[in-house]
Parts: sequence; C-alpha cells; structure tokens
Amino acid sequence: MNQTITHQLNHRSIREFTDEPVKPEDLKLVLEVANHTATSTGMQSAAMIRVTDTAKKQALSEICQQPYVARFPELIIFIVDVYRNARIAEDNGYQFESERDMDRFFQGWTDACLMAQNATNAIESLGMGAVFLGSILNDSAATIQVLKLPKLTFPVLGVGFGWPNQNPQLKPRLPLELRVFENEYKILADYKEAVREYDEEMQTYYDLREANRRVDSFTLQVIKKLQNPSDKRAKILQVVRDQGFDLKV
Ligand SMILES: Cc1cc2nc3c(=O)[nH]c(=O)nc-3n(C[C@H](O)[C@H](O)[C@H](O)COP(=O)(O)O)c2cc1C
Repeated sequence: MNQTITHQLNHRSIREFTDEPVKPEDLKLVLEVANHTATSTGMQSAAMIRVTDTAKKQALSEICQQPYVARFPELIIFIVDVYRNARIAEDNGYQFESERDMDRFFQGWTDACLMAQNATNAIESLGMGAVFLGSILNDSAATIQVLKLPKLTFPVLGVGFGWPNQNPQLKPRLPLELRVFENEYKILADYKEAVREYDEEMQTYYDLREANRRVDSFTLQVIKKLQNPSDKRAKILQVVRDQGFDLKV
C-alpha cells in the first residue's frame, strides 16, 4: 500500500477545526493541485472562489444550514466558469450561441467536482482535514448572489478545510458488490436483504456531527432523504437557466 492509497482509504469528512491557520504555502499547493486537475476538452471551465470575508461565510453558512461553515479556517467554492471563455471569444470579436449550451455547463460541472476532490486529496495528504459542501445548493440563487456570480457561471461544491479538531470514525461504505458491475447494470432481486448487513454496520457507526450520536441504518437514511426533498434544490435547473444557460428542452 502506498501513501496516496493509505490517505484515500483513511478519508473521513472533518467539520470542526482548530484555530491554527492554514499555512499560505499549503494553501498555494492546494490551489495549484486543483488548477492542475484534468479538464474536459482542455477548456478549464471551472474556477475557485476562496471565501475569506466573515459576513459572506456567515451568509453561506445560513444557506447551508450548517453553523460550522462559518467557522471553517478555509473555504473554497468550486464553480462552473464558462463566462471567462465566452469573454475571451467576445474580446476577440466573437460571440457563439454554443457558450450557453448544457454540454459546456456539464464540462464545467465535472471539472469543478474533479478539482474539489483533487484539492481534498492534497489537503488530506498534508495532514489537514476537509469536508465537501453540497449544501451551498440549498438555495443556489442565494449562493450566486453572495459570490456575485455573473451569467455563465454556477456554484457546484464547497470545500471547507483546516487542521482537524475531531477524529471521527471511518464511515462504512456499501460492499463493492452493490457498487461495481461488470459489463452491464445488475438489478438484484431483494434490496432489503442486499443491504441488511451494511445496515447493521452503519448502526454501530457514530457521527460526530450529531453530538456523538449513532446514525440510522442506511435504509432509514435513504427513506428519510427521499421523504423530505427540498423544493428549492429540485428546481435547480430554473436557476441554471437564469444564469444564461440554454437547457434546450
Ligand atoms: C457532493 C458532496 C456534498 C456534500 N455536502 C456536504 C454538506 O453540505 N455538508 C456536510 O457536512 N457534508 C457534506 N458532504 C460530506 C458527506 O456527508 C460525507 O462524505 C459522507 O457522509 C461520508 O462520510 P465521510 O466523508 O466521513 O466518509 C458532502 C459530500 C459530497 C461528496
């Protein structure tokens, strides 16, 4: 086992951090790694916003409905950024309808996710801890306002990081059989039975987020999440359209 894999298999989300600031040289490394991530068609259609303003952090924390967001030593928001390339074309006297298409949007979305994971790998390899924030999309229009995102951009994922002030247990994952198929999708006869053992394993896992509480079984978590959809999140495509992208539907 090499060091990279040891770090990756040891991954756990960290949500509480010490007061020790992230060293500027470490921050620079994390940003360089993210910037060097593979990028769809070479277009580099994703960008990062480092949030240092306390009021903005607080506003994002309210959108996320997660108070710990306001306390993150470092917070980077990864965004789709088609705006820059559209401007490169425009400032050279061109304007293309294709700037607005969903292909461009999803290239940026994928790039942003890969950059965020690559950054997280770098953060963890430096001994720090991190957590992703999909909750910035609880109200994507509000996040767009806070970050003053122009048309042809869109928030994707946040990463909060710093020096860990907690040491959570490794969170168990589903067995590989449920997530790895060969050649074609495999539909099982009985999913209740298929996750039974994993459900038991999850019930012995403690989530530090919820004051050291045991978590529900995976089955209960799935049912609760599906039972309580977020209306705003379900309407995300409306906000994507408002940002100037053409859904072509
Ligand atoms: C796309 C994505 C979005 C996430 N959003 C949040 C979030 O908004 N807040 C949070 O506390 N954790 C968030 N997480 C972390 C997950 O809750 C966490 O990865 C999962 O529970 C597994 O735990 P582990 O990372 O400790 O193994 C997110 C993870 C991913 C991949």
